[in-house]
Amino acid sequence: MTKDETFFEQKMDRREFLKKAGIGGAGLALGLSGASAFFATKTDEAEKISDGDEKIRFYGKHQAGITTAMQKNIYFVVLDLHTTDKDKIIQLFKDWTDYSAKLVEGELVKKDGSNALLPPTDTGETVGLNPHRLTLTFGVSADFLKKMGLESKRPKLFRDLPPFPKEQLQDKYTGGDIAIQACADDEQVAFHAIRNLIRKGRNSITMKWSQSGFAAIGNRLETPRNLFGFKDGTANVTKESDFDQVVWTDSKDWMKDGSYMAVRRIQMHLETWDRTNLQEQENTFGRYKDSGAPFGKKNEFDEVDLSLLPVDSHVRLAKEVDKPIYRRSYSYSDGIDETTGQFDSGLLFISYQKDPDSFVKVQTNLGADDKMNEYITHIGSGLFACFAGVEKGGYLGQDLFE
Ligand code: HEM
Repeated sequence: MTKDETFFEQKMDRREFLKKAGIGGAGLALGLSGASAFFATKTDEAEKISDGDEKIRFYGKHQAGITTAMQKNIYFVVLDLHTTDKDKIIQLFKDWTDYSAKLVEGELVKKDGSNALLPPTDTGETVGLNPHRLTLTFGVSADFLKKMGLESKRPKLFRDLPPFPKEQLQDKYTGGDIAIQACADDEQVAFHAIRNLIRKGRNSITMKWSQSGFAAIGNRLETPRNLFGFKDGTANVTKESDFDQVVWTDSKDWMKDGSYMAVRRIQMHLETWDRTNLQEQENTFGRYKDSGAPFGKKNEFDEVDLSLLPVDSHVRLAKEVDKPIYRRSYSYSDGIDETTGQFDSGLLFISYQKDPDSFVKVQTNLGADDKMNEYITHIGSGLFACFAGVEKGGYLGQDLFE
């Protein structure tokens, strides 16, 4: 087991439990199922830790924030380098390592001396708050490797994403050199972390784009629903052995024990969706909206029978490729689209996989035929190599730089 695993991951396999309790689709039958005693204990624990008083270690074999149970909030940022000085960037990653280890423990990034004529090092807005399960996850792009003169170290797997059918990518949400994903059960904690990391790097980096987002995480036992109202994340693997198969890269280079992160900023046309009748909505996914069960089945985690799903349904097209990916997406809502007067909202889609080709194969199959394409537009994109975790005394990206 990795050190960054949280309470539920250590104590039980959520899907197995829901299956056993027979409440996969119907919601949480607290106190009613045969397993209620067991469940009640977990729920008390869940309440305790939902206050955020549960730290997730920064150090470990893998970076936290990838297979860690999802938190309620994300602040995601993509940065551009404005230096090609490798030593400067190595120093920045060392500083970020030091800062991150403190931030996830709920500490100030630096304690200041007594000189009140200097600005405080830590911006201070989380003083008095606990870390709210903060995780910080770092990745670099192929452009980063080029700018740093490290192209010879580019893994074979790390190919550029090809153009996909129907995407309408905007430069301002596409590409970039470094990605940092901050997730926490509190928005201000996630924002504070990014703000202080950026502040430390101002001499070497600029911000390209950022996105905050939210997920309907309650007691962490139910799959969160996206803005179309459907449970999203059901098919994700949950076991440590499956993570090795799907998420963690096992190549013999600096990406060993890391993972490739695909990011898509996907606009969701909610007004169009909200005018669509329930049957059509369900046909779009091939799952029932209320229970989350696949067509022809009763419960959320029942096995999908592809032959029972419409040929253009999202789940059928995503599953028939047989290339599993691990999704960790957040909804966003950014006010009103000035040109249409409609909600500017959607999904900050994030998937982790050991080989980016799995994402490419799935998205290629979805791109042209997915019925959901009537209701979404992909407008941003990025592919980042997220390093392995950091052992104490080491620093982020060390195996790449040395
Ligand atoms: C706004 C965009 C999207 C929405 C609203 C959405 C929603 C959903 C929903 C509701 C499910 C069924 C429940 C589940 O297993 O999670 C699902 C499954 C899935 N989606 Fe998406 N999705 C979106 C984009 C994508 C993209 C861009 C990809 C990858 C390229 C993707 C890959 C998958 C996969 C692999 C599954 C599981 C299929 C299976 O094995 O059963 N989705 N999605």
